[in-house]
Amino acid sequence: TDPGLVDRFGRVATDLRVSLTDRCNLRCTYCMPAEGLPALPRDQVMTRDEIVRLVRVATRDLGVRQVRFTGGEPLLRGDLVEIVRGCAELPDRPEISLTTNAVGLDHRAQALHDAGLDRLNISLDSLDPGTFERLARRPFLDRTLAGIDAAARAFDQVKVNTVLVRDVNDHEAADLLAWCLARGLELRFIEQMPLDADHAWSRGTMITAAETRDLLSARFGLTPDEEPRDGAPAERYRVTAPDGTPLGTVGIIASVTEPFCGDCRRTRLTAEGAVRACLFAHTETDLLGPLRAGASDAEIADLWRAAMWGKKRGHGMDDAGFHQPERTMSAIGG
Ligand code: GTP
Ligand code: 5AD
Ligand code: SF4
Repeated sequence: TDPGLVDRFGRVATDLRVSLTDRCNLRCTYCMPAEGLPALPRDQVMTRDEIVRLVRVATRDLGVRQVRFTGGEPLLRGDLVEIVRGCAELPDRPEISLTTNAVGLDHRAQALHDAGLDRLNISLDSLDPGTFERLARRPFLDRTLAGIDAAARAFDQVKVNTVLVRDVNDHEAADLLAWCLARGLELRFIEQMPLDADHAWSRGTMITAAETRDLLSARFGLTPDEEPRDGAPAERYRVTAPDGTPLGTVGIIASVTEPFCGDCRRTRLTAEGAVRACLFAHTETDLLGPLRAGASDAEIADLWRAAMWGKKRGHGMDDAGFHQPERTMSAIGG
């Protein structure tokens, strides 16, 4: 049987993240510069049919089981519902998820659900309009909250992602958790990674997983979840009130201080249809060019396998020669 997307360290990629666009309607400080980035010319971005074809090769020929659409902001694609439907109609249907900032999701949550989207993760860094705008550089808190409401109505599983930034929203950690628990949403706190446009990231200013646990422990009881993590980036904790009442769970994604690269199951496609074996890769393998030049599915699959074979052991942030990738999170596909 086909071994799928294996690398020289024995990892097997079964989880595909596809960036649908490099554009975004927010300008989060940890992801994009204030002035934005030059948008890719439209004809360099994968079409719906090209995306569905690559997802078909990944699921039918390469063992991929889960597909997550990211961006930039995937809701900026007018054909997002059709892309989801195209993938949901594949014979070896993958699990399909979406990572979004939820601006404009209120109008499309139900249609996405009906097209076959299984679950979604929504970024929310603050419940305070001023703080939200300081981080996102856009005054869209209300639109994000409307999107979260609609998602919670349409979907069984909605997660919320928060990046804590020191002296900006770190004081809100426990409030955000209380807000999510009250709505049955699973909150995950994410350590900021050096993928910002301004190269302003530093280990010293990053809020670590350990600090996040301390911030939350001031108001909640946290007990590590015993369930196997199964390649997921988040460590999960059961949350209790001071009197011991169970309230739900919270996740902490410690990509920097407790890396999970050894168990990585990811392969990524950029919006231009190139394979990135790792967020922190310095090389990409173009699939869209060959596809447009008439390559067969078998040829595409071979290129993809070769790209993943070259995957690095890990992000290497602790190595002396580490340097941040040229492209920002928004361009790689958060
Ligand atoms: P599920 O666990 O399946 O719900 O999804 P996810 O957590 O993988 O997806 P999401 O898009 O919500 O990503 C959340 C965070 O995980 C990101 O902000 C990153 O911090 C981290 N992350 C996503 N992809 C990678 C990756 O390839 N490598 C590392 N180190 N971290 C990643
Ligand atoms: N470090 C960590 N997470 C980031 N995200 C965007 N940029 C960064 C970064 N530099 C997050 C977004 C989104 C998720 C997919 O990635 O907040 O929730
Ligand atoms: Fe996988 Fe690279 Fe992310 Fe580590 S940094 S988890 S190796 S994609």
